[in-house]
Amino acid sequence: MRRTEDEIRPPCTLVIFGASGDLAHRLLAPALAHLNRDGALSPDFAIVGIGRTEYSDEAFRERLEDGAKAFTPPTQGRPGDMPEAVRYLRGSFEDRELYRRLKATLEDTENRREGPPNRIFYFATPPDADETIIEALVETGLARVENGWVRAVVEKPFGHDLASGRHLNEVLLRAFREKQIYRIDHYLGKETVQNIFVLRFANGIFEPLWNHRYIDHVQISVAESVGIGHRASFYEKAGVVRDMFQNHIMQLLTLTTMEPPAAYESDAIRAEKVKVLESIRPFPTKEIDDWAVRGQYGPGVVNGKRVPGYREEPNIDPQSTTPTYAALKIAIDNWRWAGVPFYLRSGKRLAKRVTEVAIEFKGVPHRFFHKASGELLPNVLRLHIQPDEGVSLKFGVKVPGSVLQIQSVYMDFPYAKLGAPIAGGYERLLLDVTHGDQTLFIRGDEAEHAWEVLTPVLEAWESVPPPDFPNYAAGTFGPETADKFLEKDQRRWRTL
Ligand SMILES: NC(=O)c1ccc[n+]([C@@H]2O[C@H](COP(=O)([O-])OP(=O)(O)OC[C@H]3O[C@@H](n4cnc5c(N)ncnc54)[C@H](OP(=O)(O)O)[C@@H]3O)[C@@H](O)[C@H]2O)c1
Repeated sequence: MRRTEDEIRPPCTLVIFGASGDLAHRLLAPALAHLNRDGALSPDFAIVGIGRTEYSDEAFRERLEDGAKAFTPPTQGRPGDMPEAVRYLRGSFEDRELYRRLKATLEDTENRREGPPNRIFYFATPPDADETIIEALVETGLARVENGWVRAVVEKPFGHDLASGRHLNEVLLRAFREKQIYRIDHYLGKETVQNIFVLRFANGIFEPLWNHRYIDHVQISVAESVGIGHRASFYEKAGVVRDMFQNHIMQLLTLTTMEPPAAYESDAIRAEKVKVLESIRPFPTKEIDDWAVRGQYGPGVVNGKRVPGYREEPNIDPQSTTPTYAALKIAIDNWRWAGVPFYLRSGKRLAKRVTEVAIEFKGVPHRFFHKASGELLPNVLRLHIQPDEGVSLKFGVKVPGSVLQIQSVYMDFPYAKLGAPIAGGYERLLLDVTHGDQTLFIRGDEAEHAWEVLTPVLEAWESVPPPDFPNYAAGTFGPETADKFLEKDQRRWRTL
């Protein structure tokens, strides 16, 4: 059945709460400019920005356009202009008068176009602001429209812990149905993250090997070379587990370990992701050190530049116990993964910026190449998420010559080879919101299960202060305790 123009490019108004903030400037503005340039947005697509900073409509448009220019990577070409209809409302989320002005602005924008009064409310806001805004939207009737749709996009973090994550879901469900809620994790918008799914389920050769019989262990690494930037107050309260593990790393883990869904449909896929989260063995709080390691960076040198330690960063408590590094061991108690450890690590101010999933296969059952010089290394399938997107497979070959010598080589597929520019995650996800496709968004129960998995680690760490912070120098690959953590299992972290 052919889709109508309104289905392909639905007319709608995007209301950005927190439009004067960093996310709107650095991430949403470029995504909107690219979508508009590529003709993916309806000519009737309108933007209404809300924040406390003073902007005229024109100044707000300029800010968005500046953001689009500054944060469009050269590989993406020229960003394009913003949609024609851009408005800005200055006000405080707590002030009901703001919502009366929003109502008038929305009605005015909707009356100017012919299509339905579709609305997207984007919460680019500090997490504690969501409830106030949602209550006001319900009270003023803005969360419902006749003959159109309303969707809400919620940014991570989805709460601060299990209790607040559950509460946020309850608050959201007072205003919207689950079908209207889009919990966004921009990792799911990345081509290479979606490729994990395609690699596994569109190829016959990998899936038969994708289980405890052939896989020794899996390492998921999200290494950042940057520090906390301007996010001191958020990071100080959150730390690495809330910032990285609850969302991005759990997404990489579930995509790598889920069972094949019956269909490429949002509910079927999200149900499989939830099942695997339910199979994760709860962390034993009393023996947490056997399952989790924490770290915090001290001063050091990153990319040739001397950088301060976490405790010396502006607006950070000089005695802070917030972890900037964590390594966790996860066990998945199901048929496929019994006995396969998953080692997850992430940290700030590490030596390099790399995100990857590395699947290390078991060795051959009988090693008769004992006379061969050179180590017989395991096969590794590496899914590079950033910065060099691609897939590589490591295997052993014979070095030419009369002596039997084995060397590891790599079969590499760099994504860049496909020629098409790799769009940023936000572009794809914003487009999916306009189309009503929730496949790449996190369902409420999925967010809660991720909190359930991580809560014992958070509680154990928050109840006992770390004795040795800072315990890694900026520019290294994390604390020594993280290396020992794997050595206990006779394994080593992969070199990134
Ligand atoms: N920035 C990122 O890279 C990033 C990435 C992923 C997720 N997120 C999430 O996205 C959300 C926004 O992050 P951000 O970095 O953009 O934060 P931010 O730079 O601090 O911006 C917050 C925005 O909310 C507005 N605001 C805050 N309190 C308000 C109030 N009471 N009334 C009216 N406006 C208010 C601010 O307005 P004024 O500045 O005008 O006062 C600003 O526009 C957060 O939940 C964050 O966790 C951010």
